[in-house]
Amino acid sequence: MTSVPYLILAVLCLSISSTLAAESGWVDAALKFLVEGNKALQVAEVGKLEEAIEAYKQGVETLPAECDKSFDKKQAQIILSLHTQLGQALSYAGDLQSAIDSFRSACICQREWSEGGKNEALNQLASKAYFSLGMAYQESASSATDEGKQREQLELSVRAYGHATKLDPLYWSSYANLGVILADVGQDGNGNKVKCLEMYEEGILAYQKAIDILTGADGSNSIPTDPPENVREVVAELQYRIGLCLVPYLFSPDSDDETGGEDNERDCTLTVESKPITRSCLELAAYQFNRAAQYDALHVGAQNALVLVTADASFGMSTDVKKVEALFEDYASNFESSLVDELGYNAFHRMRRGFDRALAQENESTEKKFLKVVDAGCGTGLAGVEFRNISQSLIGIDLSPKIIEHAKTKRPGLYDSFQTGDINPILRDYAKQPISLLVAADTFIYFNDLTDLFASMKDGIGEGGYAVFSLENVSEESEARLNAIVPEWRWQLTPSGRVAHRKEYVEDIAKENGFQTVLYDKLDNFRAEKGEGVRGHLFVLRKDSSLKKDEL
Ligand SMILES: *[C@@H]1O[C@H](CO)[C@@H](O)[C@H](O)[C@H]1NC(C)=O
Ligand SMILES: *[C@@H]1O[C@H](CO)[C@@H](O)[C@H](O)[C@H]1NC(C)=O
Ligand SMILES: *[C@@H]1O[C@H](CO)[C@@H](O)[C@H](O)[C@H]1NC(C)=O
Repeated sequence: MTSVPYLILAVLCLSISSTLAAESGWVDAALKFLVEGNKALQVAEVGKLEEAIEAYKQGVETLPAECDKSFDKKQAQIILSLHTQLGQALSYAGDLQSAIDSFRSACICQREWSEGGKNEALNQLASKAYFSLGMAYQESASSATDEGKQREQLELSVRAYGHATKLDPLYWSSYANLGVILADVGQDGNGNKVKCLEMYEEGILAYQKAIDILTGADGSNSIPTDPPENVREVVAELQYRIGLCLVPYLFSPDSDDETGGEDNERDCTLTVESKPITRSCLELAAYQFNRAAQYDALHVGAQNALVLVTADASFGMSTDVKKVEALFEDYASNFESSLVDELGYNAFHRMRRGFDRALAQENESTEKKFLKVVDAGCGTGLAGVEFRNISQSLIGIDLSPKIIEHAKTKRPGLYDSFQTGDINPILRDYAKQPISLLVAADTFIYFNDLTDLFASMKDGIGEGGYAVFSLENVSEESEARLNAIVPEWRWQLTPSGRVAHRKEYVEDIAKENGFQTVLYDKLDNFRAEKGEGVRGHLFVLRKDSSLKKDEL
């Protein structure tokens, strides 16, 4: 992963109108040199660069020795412009130290004047001088070989950018560069870790500020200073960098696994749409990478990083029964209407059709009734309706007591009984009176690792019994990325917090637990999310413990 050490190399082009009235002796001469220098600098030729430097230098020589507080606005503008432009030309020419001196001269004058408190009109100009100074220190840091010196230059750069943003609060590129110095995560062109101050929280704030300015999220309708042409791409890059700050160990070459492991569980706080949210750092990083990809679908770094953090990820979500429960409690009252009406959910019916096809393949009678059918995650009974007429007794299990109440009033008598709670212990309990058919419609998408679940199914489902369940499938695009980046991936956490499982993972774990895959089919549009159909897949398994070890 390469990183751009300078996010933006804003080209300074201060235009001072040449019709500016001349007031005293030195002003005329200084202005003449400034105009001359600007003209030469605008021509991108090496020879002209020397010419520009010469003109600016002569201009600087005409300036009074002190930054006198009695200077008027125009005089002050000329002084700031000459120093800044000279610094700019010098830095183009590669003379970094002299460039820094020039920028500093401008900044020193600005400070003198600002003590009088009358020079707001100069702020925009002065902020450019500070910005340029910040960039010069930043460049100087990147070429420094001594670590102490490097750090010192980075710190000076932070101060300079800080001044620039103070003078011009809409200076998004100062914030962005500040973020880079505080928290650049990545490698340079030679594969070395980019040096930064490793102040990730501060870095995030700086990046966030730049984003807020560019997207107008700060509520001000003001136009950002020097807005980029490709705003979406720049915002995507900034979002991506925030994501990287949340998981610095993921991408830095000298990270050790130990911290990585701990960071996995660590919580981070991020301000999203002006509200602070605290979640696991990885989860928030995924959120950021996803946002970056939304701003710029071609941002490969963000797409890859998203795959890296979501493959086989849990983020505590699926293992935390309480969280899933809470999700459904909130959802309970409009559960069914949102599923069926708004989202056009008819996957239950398709599951039943799929199961019928599986039975036909199995040469089972179409009249067959299953003795004990368990509907795991029964909700209000949408799947129950489909499977009722092949069930002798139908039992609904759900985490949410509220939803079960809904099922009882909405479809009285559909279920013979209910059980509330975590599915694993409940399934295991059936070992004494085994389940003949387990139905799980849109239920297992809240589990990431399926190990425990399949062990419980193995215990609870009787010999020759069936399991029919739906899972979410990854998109083709995600699959290609996952295969390339995390070849051993088993599942991917989706932006909606659900889990998309890899077909082969499910088949393998089924085999390990003595299940045969009788039918595998697609279940496209099995749920709609933001108007888009989610790809699902349908599994019908039969428990067949007679499978030989070598068939496993
Ligand atoms: C079902 O019957 C067909 C035709 O008799 C046979 O080829 C197939 O193996 C049977 N399938 C199973 C699972 O027994
Ligand atoms: C059972 O009910 C489902 C759903 O209402 C229906 O599609 C199916 O045809 C019924 N099957 C039988 C055998 O009655
Ligand atoms: C699930 O997605 C994978 C990856 O795109 C694809 O290869 C597979 O065919 C899909 N399964 C179904 C049943 O659509």
